[in-house]
Amino acid sequence: MKSNILVTGSAGFIGSHLCERLLQLGYNVIGLDNFRDNYDPLIKRENVHSALEHPSYKLVEGNILDADLVDRLMKQHNIDILVHLAALAGVRNSILTPLDYVDTDIKGTVIMLEACRKYGVSKFIFASSSSVYGNGTVPFRESNNLICQASPYAAAKYSGELLCKTWHQLYSIPTVCLRFFTVYGPRQRPDMAIHIFTKAISRGLEVGIYGDGSSSRDYTYIDDVVDGIVASIDCKCAFELLNIGNSNAVDVLTLVRIIESKLQRQAHLRFLPQQPGDVPKTLANISKAANLLGYSPKVKLEDGIERFISWYRLKN
Ligand code: NAD
Ligand code: UGA
Repeated sequence: MKSNILVTGSAGFIGSHLCERLLQLGYNVIGLDNFRDNYDPLIKRENVHSALEHPSYKLVEGNILDADLVDRLMKQHNIDILVHLAALAGVRNSILTPLDYVDTDIKGTVIMLEACRKYGVSKFIFASSSSVYGNGTVPFRESNNLICQASPYAAAKYSGELLCKTWHQLYSIPTVCLRFFTVYGPRQRPDMAIHIFTKAISRGLEVGIYGDGSSSRDYTYIDDVVDGIVASIDCKCAFELLNIGNSNAVDVLTLVRIIESKLQRQAHLRFLPQQPGDVPKTLANISKAANLLGYSPKVKLEDGIERFISWYRLKN
């Protein structure tokens, strides 16, 4: 008999893929999401469509900031594992609405940690971010000294990690903080580059490039990220910080070229000012996750983009 898992942010990009995988693996999954309108909630409705057909899935529409609701769910469903993905996730947008990020990403995490303390769980997984490394030197290692985060979002995710560590020290909650690196694939959020560029190039619209196009990211395919989350549910960890990346940095202009070649259409580039909050480069050293979880990303960027485009064409 598999455990009962609460997944917050279950209607989002990563959350919806994770729930489907957990259901395949035989878990009882309780999804919590408030379908907020940071992007079109209809997209989130579609994301949960397939999980909802599964008898072991229960979707609860509600807010992670509602501590009474979270208490009820923990009790009622005898939650054993909590995967906390719900957050406001945009880096650049966090400069416009920082207080919203503090509420959702910091306060929301404390509410989850308190639920873990009160009801006891065998594992708490926190969705952290490559952005905690700020302008640090690549490749990013978990042992790096973190100097300064470049955006309110990044600072909120770093605060989340610190809170996880404190709750672990106080209450021995087994905890894994996963630092995801720019995740992509079917259902990617519409505010992220691969989705924006595919839409613009398909429609013959201008592609806005921040800076000179040299900023690079360690783009990581969704199935590999889900592999990393599932492995950290299974691992016998007390407290760990782990990079979940692809360990292959690609600059924005190269990314556009790959999308152009897959779509067989030329992009019309428009160079825009560098955005505050963006970092020039991310690149994960993934040896710690490889050793502890057996994590080994499998999907190459070209193949992952092809899969994203197939999904995009079906939906548009
Ligand atoms: P997403 O926006 O698609 O999913 C987040 C979900 O959380 C959304 O469905 C949203 O409705 C829900 N949510 C937000 N506030 C809520 C609240 N108060 N109560 C209940 N639900 C709420 O984002 P995503 O890209 O799937 O990211 C998932 C997690 O992974 C986030 O914590 C994000 O910071 C982290 N992360 C994502 C990436 C990436 O590249 N996508 C990289 C690093 C970290
Ligand atoms: C992504 C996610 O959006 C965050 O949720 C996540 O926390 C973060 O990864 C992470 O790794 O932790 P980001 O790397 O900014 O953030 O991802 P994209 O929005 O896809 O941007 C990728 C690159 O494209 C950046 O260099 C950005 O400057 C550039 N970009 C983006 C453009 O040039 N033009 C655009 O219109 C959008």
